[in-house]
Amino acid sequence: MHKVGIVGWRGMVGSVLMERMLSENDFSKVKTYLFSTSLKGENAPKYDNCHEYILDSDSIEHLRTMDIILTCQGGDYTKDIHPKLRQSGWEGIWIDAASALRMNEDAVIVLDPINGKHIEKSLDAGIKDFIGGNCTVSLMLMGLGKLFEEDLVEWMTSMTYQAASGAGAKNMIELLEQMKFFGDAYLSQRQSNSAANALEFEKNMTENFSHPKFPKECFGHPLALSLLPWIDIKMPNEQSKEEWKAQVEANKILQNKEIVPIDGTCVRVASLRCHSQAFTLKLKKSVSIERVESLINESNSWTEVIANDKEETLQKLTPAYVTGTMKIPVGRIRKMTLGDQYLNAFSVGDQLLWGAAEPLRRVLLMALKQ
Ligand SMILES: NC(=O)c1ccc[n+]([C@@H]2O[C@H](COP(=O)([O-])OP(=O)(O)OC[C@H]3O[C@@H](n4cnc5c(N)ncnc54)[C@H](OP(=O)(O)O)[C@@H]3O)[C@@H](O)[C@H]2O)c1
Repeated sequence: MHKVGIVGWRGMVGSVLMERMLSENDFSKVKTYLFSTSLKGENAPKYDNCHEYILDSDSIEHLRTMDIILTCQGGDYTKDIHPKLRQSGWEGIWIDAASALRMNEDAVIVLDPINGKHIEKSLDAGIKDFIGGNCTVSLMLMGLGKLFEEDLVEWMTSMTYQAASGAGAKNMIELLEQMKFFGDAYLSQRQSNSAANALEFEKNMTENFSHPKFPKECFGHPLALSLLPWIDIKMPNEQSKEEWKAQVEANKILQNKEIVPIDGTCVRVASLRCHSQAFTLKLKKSVSIERVESLINESNSWTEVIANDKEETLQKLTPAYVTGTMKIPVGRIRKMTLGDQYLNAFSVGDQLLWGAAEPLRRVLLMALKQ
């Protein structure tokens, strides 16, 4: 039985990965070793075939006894541990949620419904580093990948609405704390002045944005009752790094020789889970809406076209509907008034499932079959 070390299993991505592995009975297929920076030495959860104790995630000695390491611990961990392990002569398979190694020439970005054959060939060829893609990129390709595969897209913009949990467990909790802060302030104002009008409530809430006790250590700014149109660091070309990833990663996953330009603005919003995206696509030729819809519907078994109808859209094209599921609804599909080759679309996907944990567990299963 292969020895699989899992690091970062109690974080946002890691917890969802554990849930999926449990529900798909994956633990019975491997001997699992759980690693942690903060819980080393404690009893491990009682999964099938799981080593009794939690091991130290910084221990090269223990890590290098694994056949496969799957990490959801983050980029700093990868940058620290991956080179040390490889320098120690470790030749196992490294599967990673972090972006640190994604653009390395000898690393494959994994999203098997789109590039499954390339993953298999790479495993056969002895490639050792398999990295999950950026969450919005993976979710975009799950929904619209077929349009790229059919070489229909001249360029695309993607405007994102990204959930708080995309920034990690602590950030998601901070959003809840911010909501509580506003909730408490609203209740106390209502108790002291039951006749206050909406504008008075709004002014009180707005004042709380700059309250010295307002919880904002993780995001640095209010996200509740607001939004944050910047994610990650600034790149030399003025994009944020999250925006930069869209073009480079999507083209790498699609193995495009000719780069399809993709750009847009990435925005953090106060949803808990699920990333939503609004797309404008310039198509290379005129394609009917029926053809676009059937290509999207045919893409894979998780993608679903939502009719461009108010009720269906508000019911099915929202984080509230998609959260915790593998569904990738794509809707608002219509020709734009800009011209016949300009297509509008909107999609929602659970960034912790298809945007992170699911491609990792699926490449783990593919690696086990090798
Ligand atoms: N979140 C997403 O939607 C998403 C999507 C795609 C890719 N990614 C990437 O995946 C990697 C992991 O992201 P993540 O969002 O899962 O990070 P996270 O929730 O911050 O967890 C990372 C680690 O933080 C530690 N931790 C500290 N306080 C914690 C708390 N209160 N609850 C849980 N864990 C806590 C845990 O390590 P110890 O057990 O060692 O203490 C955990 O494994 C990152 O590189 C990220 O960029 C994330």
